[in-house]
Amino acid sequence: MAPSANLSSAPSDRYGNKESPKEAASGAINTLRMLLVGTVVVPMLLALIGGYLSYRTAHQAATAALAEAVAVAEENTTKVLDTHVLVAARINDLLGGLSDDQIRSQEQVLHQRIAQQIANLPQVAAAWVLDASGRELVSARVYPVNSTLDQSGRDDFRALRDPRADTFIWALRARSLESGEYRPYFTVSHRRQGGDGSFQGIVVVAVSGQYFASFYNSLLGASAQYTASVLRDDGTVLARYPETAEAGAPGENEEPLATAIAAKTASGTVATGSLADTAGSLIAYKRLADYPVYVTIGRTRASVLHEWLATMEGYAAIGVPAAVGLMLLSLLALRRTRREQVALAKARDAIEERAAIEAQLQHAQKMEAVGLLTAGMAHDFNNVLTVVWGNISLLEAECDSFEPNHRSFIEAAVSGCERAAGLTRRLLNYANRKPVDPRPVEVNEVVKQMSDLPWRSPGADIAVEFRLDHGLWPALVDPHQLEDALLNLAINARDAMAGRGTLTITTTNLRIDAAHAAADPDVALGEYAAIYVTDTGCGMPEEVLAKAFDPFFTTKGAESGTGLGLAQVYGFAARSGGYCAIESELGRGTTVTLYLPRHKVTEGRLVALPGGRNGRFAADEPGLRA
Ligand SMILES: Nc1ncnc2c1ncn2[C@@H]1O[C@H](COP(=O)(O)OP(=O)(O)OP(=O)(O)O)[C@@H](O)[C@H]1O
Ligand SMILES: [Mg+2]
Repeated sequence: MAPSANLSSAPSDRYGNKESPKEAASGAINTLRMLLVGTVVVPMLLALIGGYLSYRTAHQAATAALAEAVAVAEENTTKVLDTHVLVAARINDLLGGLSDDQIRSQEQVLHQRIAQQIANLPQVAAAWVLDASGRELVSARVYPVNSTLDQSGRDDFRALRDPRADTFIWALRARSLESGEYRPYFTVSHRRQGGDGSFQGIVVVAVSGQYFASFYNSLLGASAQYTASVLRDDGTVLARYPETAEAGAPGENEEPLATAIAAKTASGTVATGSLADTAGSLIAYKRLADYPVYVTIGRTRASVLHEWLATMEGYAAIGVPAAVGLMLLSLLALRRTRREQVALAKARDAIEERAAIEAQLQHAQKMEAVGLLTAGMAHDFNNVLTVVWGNISLLEAECDSFEPNHRSFIEAAVSGCERAAGLTRRLLNYANRKPVDPRPVEVNEVVKQMSDLPWRSPGADIAVEFRLDHGLWPALVDPHQLEDALLNLAINARDAMAGRGTLTITTTNLRIDAAHAAADPDVALGEYAAIYVTDTGCGMPEEVLAKAFDPFFTTKGAESGTGLGLAQVYGFAARSGGYCAIESELGRGTTVTLYLPRHKVTEGRLVALPGGRNGRFAADEPGLRA
């Protein structure tokens, strides 16, 4: 139930903001936290996007550079093959009209003339002529030729027998005349035919792999990241760079290239292998316009990746320190704001505590003044009442001689005096003039006596429930004042329940330590025997709850209530070293809690009330009758 009434209500929001300072501070901290996360996440995202874009750019640049290089290679290879065609044509012209026997007889002269033809052509390694039976007739490099060797099984020889064939390009390995080692060559062979179209043999012009190697070396630089090749359009490798002994079909890793060539695509780029795979390459290829030949230039994908990584390292060298710096700054700001928040909270707590103490002090001063005034008036009034009541008592002693109706006047005056005496007693009680007599008390016993006391109105349907803690600590209080307090609370509950409801009295041990003190800051740290008096009555609106403990505050009208009941209960609890609190919910009910200080000494007799009392204001109460 809420709210809880206490005498030092917290000051209202002095900042006049809708948002409290606590909320504002935690908002600032949340913003800084988000900023901190942002300083990590945003640079990472930027690095990812930037990295992707820069890789794409590096890839595109590499592809474009390869396409340019392969165009240069295509031009060069075309020139080489054009030269071969020219050389073959010149040899044909030279031999035109000569029979095989005439050629043989003039072999030396013809050898020298053909040798002269190719002397200044580095792209032509050798040239020779075979007759229709596949035997060598004349050669640019060898004199005399070995005419006994049958070369009719050569691919080019067999292919060019076909009258429809004109040129045949072929790869082979042959012994170098200079070094004697077997080296890769490729040859361009031309059909020789007579005027009637009959097959007269072939002219073979050869280019060495070395020529291509030196060309590509000057084009691409001596770098392991590049490869190049010259391929026949059926995929047969004619030359490779770097120069390897292998000639023949493309390698395993070049399948996409073989597929592109098989599809007769004129030019393009393929990627083979995987990104970080050293064997993976980007290969640009181009078909020669006039020959069934492709040139290719490849670059390892790993080299593109490395180049990109080097660029990224450059970015990282600037970006990472900037991002880390930003993150550290945010972290610093966050820690600073947190520290400021703690300092602010401390300052705010101190202000609130001070305001609460001031409010308590003011209230105590007010109560002191009211108490003094009440005590003085009650004392003087008591003196006057004593005189009046004394004289009426003297008259009462003579009442046998009075008229019956005069006797009734005297009885009314006596009853008025009794009521006035009761009021005086309550005033003195409240004003703390009544001596406090704290004794170790068995609280449950006092509580149980409530069921015998006549606080219920006749005919009312009010149930009383006790929920007592049988291990309840004894309390050090004045037992009579405790009974008075409980009676006051029971009467208030009765009035609130308007003849129907349940009054529940609960007792329990309570230890208020530092952890609980935060929830209930008005109760001093310590151990208490607590009594909860709960009713199911009308409850209190907030404005009544705020003033319920004030002396002379009543909602019951001047005839029915003095407004001293709760003030008296509060005063009793406070004087006993305890505390009193109210929780109330409009329409649901009210709980008043009495915190009574625990009595720790186990020796000595515990007190309930000696025999209980019969009424709220016992006739043998000291002091008023004298
Ligand atoms: N259990 C309760 N339920 C609802 N309202 C209550 C309860 N106890 C007290 N009040 C409210 O608090 C006011 C002050 O109570 P308090 O006991 O001090 O004076 P009173 O009951 O009005 O007069 P008196 O106690 O002298 O008969 C009451 O007038 C009532 O409005
Ligand atoms: Mg009351």
